[in-house]
Amino acid sequence: MKAHRMHKAWVLFASIGLLMSASGCQQADGKPVAAKPYSSFVSENGNINFPVDFPNGYVFIGSWAVNGSVGVSEIHAVYTRPEDVSAFKEVGKFPDGAVLVKEVSATLGSAHTTGNASWAHESKTWFLMIKDSKQRFPTNPLWGDGWGWAQFDPATKKQISTNYKTDCIGCHVPVKNSDWVYTYAYPPLGPKGQATVPKDAVGGEHAQVKPESGGVVVAQSAGGEVAAGKLLFGVNCASCHSVAADKVGIGPSLAGVIGRKAGTARGFEYSAAMSKSEVIWTSENIDKHIENPRQLIPGNRMGNLFPGMQDAKQRGDIVAFLQTLR
Ligand code: HEC
Ligand code: HEC
Repeated sequence: MKAHRMHKAWVLFASIGLLMSASGCQQADGKPVAAKPYSSFVSENGNINFPVDFPNGYVFIGSWAVNGSVGVSEIHAVYTRPEDVSAFKEVGKFPDGAVLVKEVSATLGSAHTTGNASWAHESKTWFLMIKDSKQRFPTNPLWGDGWGWAQFDPATKKQISTNYKTDCIGCHVPVKNSDWVYTYAYPPLGPKGQATVPKDAVGGEHAQVKPESGGVVVAQSAGGEVAAGKLLFGVNCASCHSVAADKVGIGPSLAGVIGRKAGTARGFEYSAAMSKSEVIWTSENIDKHIENPRQLIPGNRMGNLFPGMQDAKQRGDIVAFLQTLR
């Protein structure tokens, strides 16, 4: 009886050995052995889908609170996989296949026993990065600089980014040295994540960014106030738009934008929606576009990147500032 069992075990080991020696080439019947798939949500040609299992198999690693004019306007929650946390803690780098997911939520807020507290409300968009150390998809514009980059519509979970060079990487340049990731904000990654803490980082309540217009004395003048507009532009638009002529960022330069036909700034690769549009950037049209960037020119990329500004006065101020950029 005992001998019989041992014999069975030997057969099992032997066949595993056989399979292992054949792995990567052929099975016994001559059919190729499928390579272990790189990722369950990346297709053969590098299209990136929303991970169906999310949040199963993921851990929360940190959040960002973005200050608006009257408090926290957005909460960003960031997730990765437990194995990516362990690997990063050990070597200070994300391993091949590591996944980072960021959900951007609009907030609600009210007085609580803890103070004025905000909480995540509706989902505005989702971002995803997946580590690719092997340059698997050199011709797919969602892939490069060591990552696959994707963005998803919150309702349909459809991938909406077209090119990581225009849609993503410009804003991640400050953390180029930590493989394009803002690792310092994710405590579970351990001390190796802290190497890139910004020099001007401050603690506690001091971290409150100045309210967008609260500190500025704004005289109500017809058509908006240039000085306030300049400040508001700095807070709301400058991360993507330069005011220097022809300087391309995530968005086109807005130098001389008033009176310009949409989609015609030199050197910028517009979406089809923007370049085909017949819109002329009058003050009224810019006002509409920044109130809700999805409406005036449906399908343009700013619609996925910028939530819109509800405050008509603030929009007027920004337009007044843009009028000075001739
Ligand atoms: C407007 C600038 C901006 C754009 C555009 C942008 N990001 Fe980010 N991203 C950031 C900043 C800043 C952070 C960290 C701070 C925060 O979330 O407020 C971040 C964080 C992330 C994170 C969390 C991990 C990390 O790096 O800290 C992911 C994932 C991410 N971005 C993916 C993307 C992808 C993919 C795209 C393009 C489809 C993209 N981002 C476009 C600015 C941007
Ligand atoms: C997170 C990035 C981002 C932010 C923030 C942003 N935009 Fe944009 N904007 C874009 C992108 C990208 C385009 C090009 C869209 C396309 O090609 O579909 C664009 C296009 C535009 C255009 C059309 C320009 C042209 O040449 O046709 C205007 C006008 C504009 N933005 C104004 C603003 C203003 C004003 C703000 C601030 C209130 C702002 N944007 C904030 C990314 C942004």
